[in-house]
Amino acid sequence: MRCSDVGITSNRFTSSVPLTPEGNEHFSYSSSPSPPQTKQPNLHPLTIHPAAPRIPQVAARVRGRKRSADCPLASRQGTLRNLSSSSHSDLPEKERSATRSDGQRMQVGGDSGGMELGDGSLNPGFRDVDGGSAAEDPGKEKRDPEYAQIKPYAGMPKEVLLLHSCKARYRVPREILFWLMVACTLALVALTVTVIALSPRCMNWWQVSPVYQVYLRSFKDSDGDGVGDLKGIQKQLEHFQYLNIKSVWVSPFYRSPLRDSGYDVEDFRAIDPLFGTMQDFEKLLAEMHSKGLKLIVDLIPNHTSDRHRWFNLSRTGDPHYKDYYVWSDCNGSAPRPNNWVSVFGNSAWTYDDVRGQCYLHQFLKEQPDLNFRNPHVRKEMTDIIHFWLEKGVDGFRVGAVNRLLEAAHLRDEPQVDPKKAPESVASVWDLHHDYTTSQLGLHDLLRDWRAEMQAYSREPGRYRFMVTESYDYHEVDKTMMYYGTSLVKESDFPFNFYLLDLPQNTSGLWVKHLVQLWMANMPKGQWPNWLVGNHDQPRIASSAGHTYIRAINMLLLTLPGTPTTYYGEEIGMENNNGTDGPARDPAGKYNASASQDPQRSPMQWSSDMNAGFNNKTNTTWLPLHPDYRSINVKAQMEDEGSVLAQYRSLNTLRQSELPFLRGWFCFVHADASVFSYLRELDGLSRAFLMVLNFGGEPAVTDLSSVPELPDLLTVQMSTNRSNDDKVLHKSRIPTEAGEGLVIQYTTNTRFHPNHPEQCYVSEKACYLSAVDLLYQC
Ligand code: NOJ
Repeated sequence: MRCSDVGITSNRFTSSVPLTPEGNEHFSYSSSPSPPQTKQPNLHPLTIHPAAPRIPQVAARVRGRKRSADCPLASRQGTLRNLSSSSHSDLPEKERSATRSDGQRMQVGGDSGGMELGDGSLNPGFRDVDGGSAAEDPGKEKRDPEYAQIKPYAGMPKEVLLLHSCKARYRVPREILFWLMVACTLALVALTVTVIALSPRCMNWWQVSPVYQVYLRSFKDSDGDGVGDLKGIQKQLEHFQYLNIKSVWVSPFYRSPLRDSGYDVEDFRAIDPLFGTMQDFEKLLAEMHSKGLKLIVDLIPNHTSDRHRWFNLSRTGDPHYKDYYVWSDCNGSAPRPNNWVSVFGNSAWTYDDVRGQCYLHQFLKEQPDLNFRNPHVRKEMTDIIHFWLEKGVDGFRVGAVNRLLEAAHLRDEPQVDPKKAPESVASVWDLHHDYTTSQLGLHDLLRDWRAEMQAYSREPGRYRFMVTESYDYHEVDKTMMYYGTSLVKESDFPFNFYLLDLPQNTSGLWVKHLVQLWMANMPKGQWPNWLVGNHDQPRIASSAGHTYIRAINMLLLTLPGTPTTYYGEEIGMENNNGTDGPARDPAGKYNASASQDPQRSPMQWSSDMNAGFNNKTNTTWLPLHPDYRSINVKAQMEDEGSVLAQYRSLNTLRQSELPFLRGWFCFVHADASVFSYLRELDGLSRAFLMVLNFGGEPAVTDLSSVPELPDLLTVQMSTNRSNDDKVLHKSRIPTEAGEGLVIQYTTNTRFHPNHPEQCYVSEKACYLSAVDLLYQC
């Protein structure tokens, strides 16, 4: 019988409890409203009326005592003790039974099976009716058969149980255990909160791996038509795995007339047949994901192709589409609403005789600018972002973001040379772009798009990355705005184009200046990035010189932040200036010397036919660089000292060493030849010193004035392999022109606390070597 089976409710309690002559308390219960107080001679003091209240309350009230705070039943102990030691034995057995709430009566004491209480009295309710005690009780079979239904141990009334549980020998251990449990729980919660609070943020995939740019047309041709395609990329995924590269940006594959290499999009949701099918795209993406690779695609919001359906509807004046583009009145004979020029040269306005107005195009006339002041256009672009996010792409490279909006007043832009005849203003360099770039409101567009990507970034490992392209030249503040603010996110980083200037004055001081330009202007807590080439820029191995390609790769892979590698840089590919006809790219059509074809020549995979770019026909959409027989992936994979092998080792080092991924970056030294910096992490005794010679001559660098460095330094890796493992004194560190050194050293003295103005870190982290733990500090 459980205590609750007694079925006594407190609202039926009456307080008239006479005391026995011996001073014992006798309980009397009755249903409320209380009947007249008639004594019930047949009821034993422990006989509980079916409608009686719970005993504790009775006891408390009867005795008029306060409950002890730590043991609420303490005040009742005496009561029960008295009850149990009262004249049980004097009563007939049946009278010494309690009545159950359901009308059954219960054995409450006697000398045959009651549990002995601490004070020598018996637990009146504890009788093993079915068990061993029955055998010892000859009178059992005479008892009411109802008792036989009472289960073993079921007979201890709650009061009695509580009476025992309040004894010190039970209570104290119980309380100790209780408080121990509370303390342990609190300690665990505190530990969990501390660990969470102190853990540095996990690094994201786009921070850990370099971004590799695939220029689709030139990467790998799977079907022998001379043009790279999606299936071609899929065939070469092992290349990324070999290099330990996880993030791949693929240039546009959307349906396009290809007037600007696919940056003139006719349908943002379709694949151009030249590059494959949507099924090819989906297969590529699925296979990349299965290999742990991420795919970044181009988003080209500034303009469409003039063959886009929207443009056709706009020029014919469809009411919904008429303001999808930027139109202005002009006439066929003088088609210039103002002096704005296109990036590719000449007026940014073209007269459209269907509509009888001019439309704006900041790039080719076949690339009309979308009007982002129109909410329908904004909605269209958001839908396109959704479409590709739903497909599962991992991020976007958003092109030409600084040109998304133009000043609505359409005023002339100021000339760089005010004396120049206005009619001769034709180049993008002739004007200050006060009204065609960086207009108020463009960051709101980017923030909205970022927010869309955020919505798809919640699943672990599915962060959707955004990088923006904006050439702000020396207006670095404008570039930095694309990081957003600490409250409103924008791009994860804007492309850092400042190292594109590296060849102009290759020297240690110049490289330091370019690196500092970014580090000193980047908002606190943001993540840097570095690149030295892309499909729009001459190849660095040509512009800086092949001598420097290893040191430049070493620079990119050891600076803090994400490096971007343009296809072929990992093997030191150079521009191919030998063209076999007119320029294929728009910039080259306007100005042959600015052609971008040389940096877009097919990837050099091997010394086989067509450099392994394709092996079915003899055609390649652009001519191959003739050096492919010696400079190619296959040959360099077989050579441990190759540019490729060094790129690979550096990337492995970068991803395996905490100082490179998480640590401080500090300028140590710069001169006409050498640029030197270090990477260190608080708490980790392993640190790295980089010494890179960008000058034209060999140099000996003296770092004896840097007390934080040990006297003797061992070269871990040199771009000149014969110098690997050399032990150097810090006062004499020799380097050849174009040589770079990675020097690993051990220290307990950090450089950054003594030189805070020379050091940067995106997010502080410290290492606890004893437990191999990284924490925020
Ligand atoms: C940026 C691309 O990088 C470039 O190649 C293209 O010409 C312009 N956007 C215009 O679409």
